[in-house]
Amino acid sequence: MKLWAGRFSKDTDSRVNDFNSSISFDARMYREDILGSIAHATMLGEQGILTSDETAAIIGGLNGILADIEDGKLPFDPEAEDIHMFIEAELTKRVGDAGKRLHTARSRNDQVALDVRLYLRGEITALQKLVAELLTALEQQAQANKGTVMPGYTHLQRAQPITFGHHLLAYAQMLMRDYTRLTDCTKRMNECPLGSGALAGTTHPINRARTAELLGFDAPTANSLDGVADRDACIELLSALSMVMMHLSRFSEEIILWCSWEFKFIELDDAYATGSSIMPQKKNPDVAELVRGKTGRVYGDLMGLLTAMKGLPLAYNKDMQEDKEAVFDAIDTVKLCLSTFAPMLATLRVLPANMRRAASGGFINATDCADYLTKKGMPFRDAYKITGTLVAYCIEHGKTLEALTLDEFKAHSALFAEDVFTAIGLDTCVNGRVSQGGPGLSSVEVQLAALHTFLQGTRQA
Ligand code: ARG
Repeated sequence: MKLWAGRFSKDTDSRVNDFNSSISFDARMYREDILGSIAHATMLGEQGILTSDETAAIIGGLNGILADIEDGKLPFDPEAEDIHMFIEAELTKRVGDAGKRLHTARSRNDQVALDVRLYLRGEITALQKLVAELLTALEQQAQANKGTVMPGYTHLQRAQPITFGHHLLAYAQMLMRDYTRLTDCTKRMNECPLGSGALAGTTHPINRARTAELLGFDAPTANSLDGVADRDACIELLSALSMVMMHLSRFSEEIILWCSWEFKFIELDDAYATGSSIMPQKKNPDVAELVRGKTGRVYGDLMGLLTAMKGLPLAYNKDMQEDKEAVFDAIDTVKLCLSTFAPMLATLRVLPANMRRAASGGFINATDCADYLTKKGMPFRDAYKITGTLVAYCIEHGKTLEALTLDEFKAHSALFAEDVFTAIGLDTCVNGRVSQGGPGLSSVEVQLAALHTFLQGTRQA
C-alpha cells in the first residue's frame, strides 16, 4: 500500500511502479537520508512540534535501521518507490505512530535535495583524496625526472627541449586546479535545503538554522523554491568531474603515444598493461585507453543532466530524479579512473636515453641558435631568419645544427663564434630556461616545492 494511496481508487500499474521507482539507485543515499531525518526530528522535538517521547522513538528507530542496513540485516525492498519512502515505512513498522509524524513540515522534495547534497559532500572529499594521490604519484615521477631531457611539442612536432619532470608538472598544475574546483563545489552547495518543504516552506514553527547547523551546513538555502528546484550542485560537480576527465584523457593520450614503438619514451609496468589474444608481442595501454574512453561517458552525464533541466518549470518535477544516475555514474567512473591511473603512473618506467635521442633531432635547439645571435646584438627577427636558413642548409646536407663547422656557421653570420656550440647544446638549452615556470632545474625546483606544499595542505585538510 502506497503512503500516498488515500487519493487513489486503483493500484498503480506494475509497469508504472517499476518506471517510477528510484530505489535501485538512490538506496546508496540511505545514510544521508537517515542522518537528515534524525536532524529533522531533533529540530521538531526542540521546537515542540513533536513530544520528547516521539522524538526519542523516531531517533532510536532510525539509528536501528541504519545499523541494520549496515550489518546487512535489512535489505532494500525493490518494491519501494524510493529510499525516502522505504525508510519512512520501515520506521513506522518499527516504532508505530511516532514514525508517521516524522514527515511533519517536510516533503520528499526538500528531503531528496538534502540527501543529494549530503551525499555529494562526502563523495567530493573521497574524490579529492584520489586526486591528491595522483598528485603524489606526479610529484614522485617529476622529482625523479627533473633532469630527464625530452622534446617539448607543439602541433605534435618537436619544438623546444624540456624535461619529463617539467612536462609532468604541467599536469600537476591542472590537477591542483581540479582539486580546488572540487572545494569550490562544496562551498557553494553547502547550504541546507531542508525546510523548503514541497516548494513553499511550511506553517509549522520550524527552525531551519538548527537543522542546517546539525548537518554541518553553512546556512539554510534562502528561497524555498530554489531549495527544491535547483540541481546546479549536481551539474557543477559534473562539470568539475568532466574537467578532471578531460585532463586525465589528454594525459592518457600522451601515455599511449609515449609507450608506442614510435616514441618508446616509457614502458608501462606489466601490472598496468594488457596483452592481445592473437598477437604475442603486444603490450597494450588499456588503462589509459579506457580512461580516455570513459571521458566521453562523464561528459555524457553532464550533457544529459543539463539537457534534462533546461526546460523545467519551477519547482520540483519528476524529471529531476534523473540527476542521481548521472552524478552517481560520473562519481563512480572518476573514482575508478583516478584510482587506476595513479598507480599506473607511479610504476611506469621512463626511458631517458630514448627521450634524449628524440630531443637531439628535429632542430629542437633552433630557437636557442636564434637567441644566441640575439644576445650578440642582432634583432630577433633577423636572427630567426638566419637560423631558418641554417636549418634548411642542414636538412639539405643531412646535418644537425651542432654538427656544423664554425666556418659553416660563419658563412651565415659573422656573429657566430666558438661558444655557439655550448649555446646550442641540449643541456644548455634546457638548463638555461630558468624563466619562472620554465624547464630549467631551478625553475622546476620551485614548481616541485609548490606542489609539495599543496599536498601537505591536502593532508591537513
Ligand atoms: N525519488 C524522487 C527523486 O529522486 C524523490 C522526490 C520525489 N518527490 C516527488 N514529489 N515525487 O526525485
